[in-house]
Amino acid sequence: MDHFLYKNGTLHAEGVAIADIAAAVGTPFYVYSTATLTRHYSLFTEALAPLPHMVCFAIKSLSNVAVLKTLGNLGAGMDVVSGGEYLRAKAAGVPGDRIVFSGVGKTRDEMRLAMTGGIRQFNVESEPEMRALSEVAVSLGVTAPIAVRVNPDVDAKTHEKIATGKKENKFGIPIARASEVYAEAARLPGLKIVGIDVHIGSQLTELEPFEQAYLKVADLTRRLRSEGHTITRLDLGGGLGIPYTRSNEAPPLPTDYGALIKRTVGDLGCEIEIEPGRLISGNAGLLVASVVYVKNGEGRDFLILDAAMNDLVRPSMYGAHHDIVPVAEPPVAAPTQEFDVVGPVCETGDTFAKGRDLPLVAEGDLVAFRSAGAYGAVMASEYNTRPLIPEVLVNGDQFAVIRARPSFDEILNRDSIPAWL
Ligand code: LLP
Repeated sequence: MDHFLYKNGTLHAEGVAIADIAAAVGTPFYVYSTATLTRHYSLFTEALAPLPHMVCFAIKSLSNVAVLKTLGNLGAGMDVVSGGEYLRAKAAGVPGDRIVFSGVGKTRDEMRLAMTGGIRQFNVESEPEMRALSEVAVSLGVTAPIAVRVNPDVDAKTHEKIATGKKENKFGIPIARASEVYAEAARLPGLKIVGIDVHIGSQLTELEPFEQAYLKVADLTRRLRSEGHTITRLDLGGGLGIPYTRSNEAPPLPTDYGALIKRTVGDLGCEIEIEPGRLISGNAGLLVASVVYVKNGEGRDFLILDAAMNDLVRPSMYGAHHDIVPVAEPPVAAPTQEFDVVGPVCETGDTFAKGRDLPLVAEGDLVAFRSAGAYGAVMASEYNTRPLIPEVLVNGDQFAVIRARPSFDEILNRDSIPAWL
C-alpha cells in the first residue's frame, strides 16, 4: 500500500497534486511520501514486537538526509555501507549506537570515522577486514563491537546481480568456517564479539530462503555459545521484496516475515536487527517525467520521456519492471496504445519498457513511474551531462524540495582545466 492515489482526476502524493509539484520544480523529479515511509517502517517494528529489536534502514536504497531524518525520528536505526552513508546517518541526527556498518571493503579510514563518531556494530565480512578493524581499534584505544557476516550458501531465488548468500558470492565468510573465524576474532585485542550477521539477497519474493538461512544462524548461535562466545544480537539482513506491478504479485508481508523470525530465532534470547531497504522506501517514491515526443516508428511507437536510464537505471540494468501511469487519471475503459517507453540518452539500453500498453498520452503530458523510491535516486548518474534530478518530500498537504536540481554552472565548475592546456 502507498499514498499515491488519484483524487479529482489527477495523481496525488498524499494531499499534494503531482502536477503542482511538477509546475514548481520542473520534470523529471523524484517524490517521496512521508506517510508511506512511516507506515512501512512501522510494519516491521510491529511484526517484530515483542522481541527486542532494531529496524536498521538500509540507507543504500534511498539516502536523502531528509528521508533518513523522517525514519530516524521514528526510532529507526541505519545500515550503512560506506563512510559517506555513515555521515548521512549522522547528518540526519541518528546516534552512532543506532548505526550498523556493513560491506565487504571497509577501508581503515571508514573504520576510524565510525569508531570516532560512534557505532553500534561492524558487520565484518572477512578475516583480513577483521584484523584491520582490530588494528584500527587498538590504535584509537577503543574496542570495536562486531558481528561476523556468515554466508549460509542459500539460494535467494532472486535476480543473480542481487543474490548475496550463495557460496560463489563475494559476501561473508563460509558458515562452515565460522568457528575458526570467531575463535580468531575472540583473540584479536581490538574486537568485541556481539553477534552474527547474515544477508542473502534483495527483492526476495518467497520466505523459504530466509527460513533456511535463519535456521542455520540459529544452529550457529548455539554452537558458538557452546564454544564460549557471547552472542546477544542477530542481524538478519534485509531483502524482503515488494510488488512492482498492481496485478497478481503478492510477496510475503512483513507480518509473515516477523512470524518466521520468531519461529526460527525467537527463542535464543537475542536482540534482533533487520536491515530492510526496499520494503520501506520502494513504494514510497515515484519518478515523475514529461513526455517529450510521441514518435511513430517502424512497426512500433516510442514514448520519449525527459527521464532516462541515468535517472532510473533499474530497467536497463536488471530488466526491472516499473509500472508507468499517466498523472491525469485516464477515464474508465479509455483506449490504450502499445509504446516502447524510452529516454533521450544515446544508447538503445535507455529503454524503460517495451511494448507497454498505456492509456493514450501526448506531448507535454506527465507520467509517473511507481515503486521508484528504492534504488532510484541513489543509483542515478550524470551520464550525457544530465543533471541529477531533484528529490521532493511530501508530508500531508505540504511538500519540500529535499535536493535541488544543480545548475549547469555547478556541474561544469567541478571540472578543471590543467595549466598546460
Ligand atoms: N543489507 C545488506 C547488507 C545489503 O547488501 C542490502 C542490499 C540490504 C540490507 C537491503 O536490501 P533490501 O531490503 O533493500 O532488499 N540495486 C538493486 C538492489 C541491490 C541491493 C543491495 N543490497 C536493485 O535496484 O534492485
